Amino acid sequence: MSEHELRVAKIRDGTVIDHVTGGQALNVLSILGIDGSAGLSVSVGMNVPSDRLGRKDVVKVENRELSQSEVDVISLIAPEATINIIREFEVVQKNRVDRPETVVGLLSCPNHNCITNGNEPVKTNFTVVDEGVRCTYCGTIIRDALADHIEPTR
Ligand SMILES: Nc1ncnc2c1ncn2[C@@H]1O[C@H](COP(=O)(O)OP(=O)(O)OP(=O)(O)O)[C@@H](O)[C@H]1O
Ligand SMILES: [Mg+2]
Ligand SMILES: [Zn+2]
Repeated sequence: MSEHELRVAKIRDGTVIDHVTGGQALNVLSILGIDGSAGLSVSVGMNVPSDRLGRKDVVKVENRELSQSEVDVISLIAPEATINIIREFEVVQKNRVDRPETVVGLLSCPNHNCITNGNEPVKTNFTVVDEGVRCTYCGTIIRDALADHIEPTR
């Protein structure tokens, strides 16, 4: 590490989401439902130089693992992301994200009349399409700002 790099405390156990598309770190935090109130130790690097991407964001979360739905939504906003599992300060697992065919749960449908927003809770289900993601129940397409459509109750 050169004298021009900033040293951030390593985490003992948790997850490092690396190679996040520049500018998407705060959206990754929204997807993870992290708003600072949980007391988790979180560090975020934005627009960090990267050999591969030019600039990237990095999100490091202590004592937290990611669900498949969380990884699926992250892959849609940060297709180059790598998910690193940290145990005892070391990377014990590294996975690239894959573009999913569907996203189950986690996202909410913006159509208030959709069955998924009714009194009987029905788990949301979105098909990934070129324009964004399409609700399997009512056909509504979420075109952008996916992170703004995270289910409030989770
Ligand atoms: N204990 C830790 N606490 C916080 N961050 C960590 C820890 N261990 C590794 N990291 C971070 O996790 C990411 C992956 O670590 P790794 O050592 O695999 O780096 P790398 O060889 O550059 O990986 P890649 O080839 O995926 O770029 C890096 O951003 C690194 O800074
Ligand atoms: Mg690297
Ligand atoms: Zn719907």
